[in-house]
Amino acid sequence: MKRACVIGWPVEHSRSPLIHGYWLERYGINGSYGRQPVAPADLPQFLRTLRDKGFAGCNVTLPHKEAAFAAAAETRPAARAAGAANTLWFEGGRLVADNTDSAGFMSSLHAACPSLQLAGATVAVLGAGGAARGIVLALIERGVCEVLLFNRTRARAEAVAAGVGARVKVHDWGARADRSRDAALLVNTTSLGMKGAGTLDMDVSALDPTCVVADIVYVPLETPLLAAARARGLATVDGLGMLLHQAVPGFEKWFGVRPEVTAELRALLQRDIEGA
Ligand SMILES: NC(=O)c1ccc[n+]([C@@H]2O[C@H](COP(=O)([O-])OP(=O)(O)OC[C@H]3O[C@@H](n4cnc5c(N)ncnc54)[C@H](OP(=O)(O)O)[C@@H]3O)[C@@H](O)[C@H]2O)c1
Repeated sequence: MKRACVIGWPVEHSRSPLIHGYWLERYGINGSYGRQPVAPADLPQFLRTLRDKGFAGCNVTLPHKEAAFAAAAETRPAARAAGAANTLWFEGGRLVADNTDSAGFMSSLHAACPSLQLAGATVAVLGAGGAARGIVLALIERGVCEVLLFNRTRARAEAVAAGVGARVKVHDWGARADRSRDAALLVNTTSLGMKGAGTLDMDVSALDPTCVVADIVYVPLETPLLAAARARGLATVDGLGMLLHQAVPGFEKWFGVRPEVTAELRALLQRDIEGA
């Protein structure tokens, strides 16, 4: 039986078992996917013995993403860009680390808005944390003309820009509403709007009527930002799509089937989020 898991500290909140459990059943695979609480001090030993414990690999959640990246024998470009890993597997006995978050975001965006033209577009990104770095890079790789980057702590945004290149233009956090007028896409990558976190104060009234508004926060599914955008008639993309799509590569590596993000899977997760 093939086995995979998600490691974190704590890890009880992780919805990954729901996603991978659905796919294991759907594809009739004799496999398992569970939660493994791993204290930070135990991580090196846990990863050294991952294969001996019978795991084909694992997902990695907080606070282990950076340490898992550092512990891997091989790293993929997206993991190097983020300096963090969320997916681990073995190749030729060597532990390989990738970060599938940004690809998950791009797949989710494409699935929700297939006609959105990114090449040559101006895009606005709110936030410069761990998730933002990969998303900014992925947008640049898709050929956007410029990324307008806004973060409360400007130095953090400058660091992202320095790592990605001149097409990233850093602006003051306070200028986000005014400067985003021409954006074809606005993405919130801050934790603001998440249940229990602060409120994202973003005036969407100046956005172009064709602007797509995406949020990577998925609890609640419709964040106040998305609700405001929808009320203005703008197209919106919620964070659940990213969560589902980022899980695809790991499942394929561990269980040998490229799984599909279906409406049924989305509804399953939606019920879980709404019941939380
Ligand atoms: N949908 C998915 O699959 C998915 C995947 C990954 C992450 N996420 C979600 O994305 C969010 C960000 O994750 P992350 O890993 O990037 O977090 P992170 O590295 O901790 O970054 C947090 C970001 O939020 C900003 N922020 C926090 N509090 C703020 C406030 N009061 N005012 C203004 N800005 C504030 C931070 O700004 P400063 O730099 O100024 O502190 C930073 O830009 C989380 O809610 C996470 O759950 C979703």
